[in-house]
Amino acid sequence: MPHSSPHLRQYYGINYPLAGHPVRRRLKRDHPATTLHGHKVWGSALLMMDWLSREPLPPGSRVVEVGCGWGLLSTYCAKQQACEVTASDIDPAVRPYINALAGLNDVELAWRQAEFADWDAALLSEIDVLIASDICFWDQLAEPVWQLINRGIDSGVSQILITDPLRPPFIEVAEACIEDFHAELLPLTIDTPRRHRGALLRIENR
Ligand SMILES: C[S@@+](CC[C@H](N)C(=O)[O-])C[C@H]1O[C@@H](n2cnc3c(N)ncnc32)[C@H](O)[C@@H]1O
Repeated sequence: MPHSSPHLRQYYGINYPLAGHPVRRRLKRDHPATTLHGHKVWGSALLMMDWLSREPLPPGSRVVEVGCGWGLLSTYCAKQQACEVTASDIDPAVRPYINALAGLNDVELAWRQAEFADWDAALLSEIDVLIASDICFWDQLAEPVWQLINRGIDSGVSQILITDPLRPPFIEVAEACIEDFHAELLPLTIDTPRRHRGALLRIENR
């Protein structure tokens, strides 16, 4: 793998190919476009990586990332935090991007094509941590995201972490979670060097 290409950027120790990188050019040429906004890595994924670099997950945690898009955050959890990670998205077109990022970082990720509603109690009871970034970008996503969090809590998921640039449907979910599950909403800002602002919704399920 061309790990030393000038078109490669590092985010929190993760190799990320820029648009001119041969891997990105090959992906664009050979695979269908992603839909539902899974067409790039969003700043909220970087906010979560920054948070986790300061508040790491227990090594070996069984982690699921829902709405993973290209899976940069999943790759980070596998490579830098030694977690067992499943990357999941409703859109199968993200999979070649996930595989490419995992390959550039020498990690293995499990994959499940699923929408939020598919994560039922049986699946959620097998995991320790549920993570996501920027998954609540339309009004109609607020209810399925809240329902997912609710099932996660009932199924014994220990930590639920979701970052977001504070879009209105996310704020609605966050307020409900503060009320219902004693969640915290923590403001976050990073410069990567571009400035990204948002917040982390954190639920500790004890
Ligand atoms: C704004 S992108 C964020 C991608 C990635 N988490 C990031 O931060 O770079 C939203 C992602 O959520 C996925 N998505 C949208 N609706 C979904 C649903 N109902 N169930 C699962 N994933 C969904 C999209 O396919 C897309 O990859």
